[in-house]
Amino acid sequence: MPTPLEPLPRLSDALGGPRLWVKRDDLTGLAFGGNKVRKLEFFMAEALGEEARTLVTTGFVQSNHVRQTAAAAARYGMASVILLIGDPPQKETGNLLLDRLLGADVRWTSSVRRRDTDLEALMDGLRADGARPYLVPHGGSNEVGAMGYVLAMAELVDQLRVADVQIDAIVTATSSGGTQSGLVIGASLYGFAGEIVGISVGPEADEVRSRVLSIISAAGDRWGLPAGPSPSELVVHDDYVNGGYGVLTGLEREAIQLAAQHEGLMLDPVYTGRAMGGLIDLIRKGVFTDRQNVLFWHTGGTPALFAYADRLGASEEDPT
Ligand SMILES: Cc1ncc(COP(=O)(O)O)c(C=O)c1O
Repeated sequence: MPTPLEPLPRLSDALGGPRLWVKRDDLTGLAFGGNKVRKLEFFMAEALGEEARTLVTTGFVQSNHVRQTAAAAARYGMASVILLIGDPPQKETGNLLLDRLLGADVRWTSSVRRRDTDLEALMDGLRADGARPYLVPHGGSNEVGAMGYVLAMAELVDQLRVADVQIDAIVTATSSGGTQSGLVIGASLYGFAGEIVGISVGPEADEVRSRVLSIISAAGDRWGLPAGPSPSELVVHDDYVNGGYGVLTGLEREAIQLAAQHEGLMLDPVYTGRAMGGLIDLIRKGVFTDRQNVLFWHTGGTPALFAYADRLGASEEDPT
């Protein structure tokens, strides 16, 4: 840290829209980086404070959060046990491959419905075995993890001051809400006046808004941080969810190709490809003028690209 703040001049030209910038949180540095590293800094402090010896968390098979948690455990000499939702795939690739290489003990639960019960049983078993488990919540999203993005906003505000740039809007992928809630709290603490636009990668906008607001309210209760905006002021778009979470469509494919071919910038199919696809659509609809500065907050996730090789490769048709 700080992660680079970079202009995207060729992508801006190609889209004929606002001046685009990127905040490179794909470069947070731990096992291929991503937004969860900033959250884990705060979870690790809590875990070490409790003298935990094992990190436990949960997510879907290609979870970036799970991979970064397993990496944080390795970095601190701890064990990691992860509960993945779904069925074991025939081929272990992308994040799951990295989970294995990081030494995670991988367990499976059949569905989201069963997850919490199975997680509780897992934690009980680990406690009984003396493994001293610390549970990192799903997505790293609560008032502890959100602190990573409160400080990330401080980092950005500092970079913008040095670069003498004023950003009109930040656009980022949102799902479990930790990133967006931290940015919103940080904006009011550090005086960022632009809009913070969340592009949902799965949940309905109302669901994301309620997650974000409940994290902001928990941060207020626990740390005395500022109250958040009202639900109507919180900007979340769910128009780009298309086929559902993790389903690759022309929107993500085009965004991935445009960023790669104009800037050498890699996005992922699940989060940043969808969020950039949403940003491109908003630009084409004229939501941002060519005089504005819009920052795309890259949240990582690129290892999942390899799990989509059969749908992203050269043999696939260009969507445009
Ligand atoms: C690459 C990437 N981007 C964005 C997000 C969404 O962040 P949040 O869960 O804090 O809303 C995630 C969460 O899993 C992610 O892995």
